[in-house]
Amino acid sequence: MRISVIGCGYLGAVHAACMAKLGHEVVGIDVDERKIAELSAARAPFFEPGLEALLDEVQLTGRLSFTTDMAAAAGSDVHFICVGTPQKKGENRADMTYVNAATHDLLPHLAPGNIVVGKSTVPVGTASRLAGLVTEQEPTAHLVWNPEFLREGHAVADTLSPDRFVYGVADGSEDHPAVAVLDEVYAGSLAGGTPRLVTDHPTAELVKAAANSFLATKISFINSMAEVCEAAGADVTRLADAIGMDDRIGRKFLNAGIGFGGGCLPKDIRAFMARAGELGADQALTFLREVDAINMRRRSRVVELTRELCGGMLLGQRITVLGAAFKPESDDVRDSPALSIAAQLQLQGAVVTVTDPKALANAAKRFPELQYVADLDQAVANADAVLLLTEWQQYRDLDPYEVAEMVGSLRILDGRNVLDAAKWRAAGWTYRGLGRP
Ligand code: UDX
Repeated sequence: MRISVIGCGYLGAVHAACMAKLGHEVVGIDVDERKIAELSAARAPFFEPGLEALLDEVQLTGRLSFTTDMAAAAGSDVHFICVGTPQKKGENRADMTYVNAATHDLLPHLAPGNIVVGKSTVPVGTASRLAGLVTEQEPTAHLVWNPEFLREGHAVADTLSPDRFVYGVADGSEDHPAVAVLDEVYAGSLAGGTPRLVTDHPTAELVKAAANSFLATKISFINSMAEVCEAAGADVTRLADAIGMDDRIGRKFLNAGIGFGGGCLPKDIRAFMARAGELGADQALTFLREVDAINMRRRSRVVELTRELCGGMLLGQRITVLGAAFKPESDDVRDSPALSIAAQLQLQGAVVTVTDPKALANAAKRFPELQYVADLDQAVANADAVLLLTEWQQYRDLDPYEVAEMVGSLRILDGRNVLDAAKWRAAGWTYRGLGRP
């Protein structure tokens, strides 16, 4: 099939490459010339494991091209909208500028029978509104809402074989003509056993908001348990292991630590609360305010713990932060708890050095006042305290005896509870975890 993918960020670039991998002829469109130039040269404009190899592979087939020209969407049967919906400045709501602009610019290029597929995370009600614009322009075209659930760091695998496909169509019916078209688009993945669920527009939009809210709630739940564990002298990691053995609860997403960040969970729960408020259902989601508050409290807690670890005073203390990305295997620093903690410590007078295997360039753009050192040994040299804030494998694998040779004082704060506390203590370190004795 001929497919256009509008928006080539973390979502769209991966989606375009994966659709070509599934055998379609794909054009990726974005207004950002730098991004398009890089993608055209089979270079990923951001770090995502496996993406560059995939770009290389599919570009050899001649099935994938990139352009800044929206007119290139003409001739495609299916158009995916993959642009961002960031948090609106100064508000909790989602900024719909890019979704609206992408749809508006696409309209003149629609042909009879085309399918427009929204993948961006949007406030409920958006799909029906955009469907109106699409059919006004082209009465035989259809709009489907097909939310994306990919995780950064696993984006390629999550796109090719997701847990499920959700198709939101106007009448919510399996017989809707767009269903068969999307089945053809995803034929390769469906043949691999991925289930798919057909529903109406608002339900499909809400599936995404609900899924992210649930994940955020799960993390904040375990972080609230970490607070109680700290007060009671208990160990939240053992507690998570034990409750996770109940398969109604499950162990995944129960890692207590510095909390969630990134370009999705924080802004999505806020946008969801804002939208529920507009719909008169704000009471239903007031608990998400608490989820957000617990999450933000983790960051202040780490600043306080670091102060304690440094003997009560941050002023002039040399602190090394391991990790700037919001999670490992990503160079994304949007709402990164690690960076937000680093910046807080610096504001309170500490001398902060940040290191990360992939995210330093992005971090430096966001927080130019922090010091960045790419080399790990150099970054920890003479540190008064080391904070592990993003659990990259190389930080999990650190040898406490080797690091001890380099630092100024043997103090470590494990913000992700991934180190073996006994091992670090045996090597002479003062070890602090979150919610661990
Ligand atoms: C998330 C959803 O998982 C994905 O389905 C959706 O499409 C987009 O948002 P992503 O933002 O890539 O994906 O990251 P995710 O792996 O969900 O992690 C989010 C944050 O939660 C990270 O900062 C991570 O460190 C944190 N986290 C995750 C925890 O603090 N504890 C956990 O147990 C799990």
